Amino acid sequence: MKSLIVFFSRTGNTRKIADKLSLITGSEKEDVEEGKDTGDIKDYPVIFLLSPVWDGRLPGPVRSYVAKRDWRGKKIYPLITNGGLMGSIYPEIISLCKGGRVDEPLSVRFIFEDQKTEDPEIEAWAGRIMRSNLMF
Ligand SMILES: Cc1cc2nc3c(=O)[nH]c(=O)nc-3n(C[C@H](O)[C@H](O)[C@H](O)COP(=O)(O)O)c2cc1C
Repeated sequence: MKSLIVFFSRTGNTRKIADKLSLITGSEKEDVEEGKDTGDIKDYPVIFLLSPVWDGRLPGPVRSYVAKRDWRGKKIYPLITNGGLMGSIYPEIISLCKGGRVDEPLSVRFIFEDQKTEDPEIEAWAGRIMRSNLMF
């Protein structure tokens, strides 16, 4: 199944993880920049949604990107970079991705730019998702 990595990054942490995940999975990437909201997810049944948590929520550009798209029938795998306080970001994602199935959320912890969640954990997560969606 075809997969897309949708990501947003202000200070580079999430971008670094998006690059790694793209190498592991071979997925294309879509950068959600402020003021640029044109990408199409229609051809992708599997979406990796990579975002930092801001004040316990999705950053505004990600929230508006997600709210504008049709998630029906899609599988959404959130990967949230954070400093340890997730707030209500997962319920927010579930409620915004109407008609989609949000599954296997992964927290990737940073202390500033220092990655605390080890790469093998991210690789194992990606591998499980690839196997369950026949992405090889
Ligand atoms: C405006 C702002 C709000 C943040 N709020 C939270 C938060 O509520 N909980 C948390 O764990 N980390 C919070 N952080 C830390 C970021 O989630 C974390 O550093 C993340 O990895 C940054 O991703 P980026 O480098 O891709 O932009 C916040 C960072 C910023 C800039």
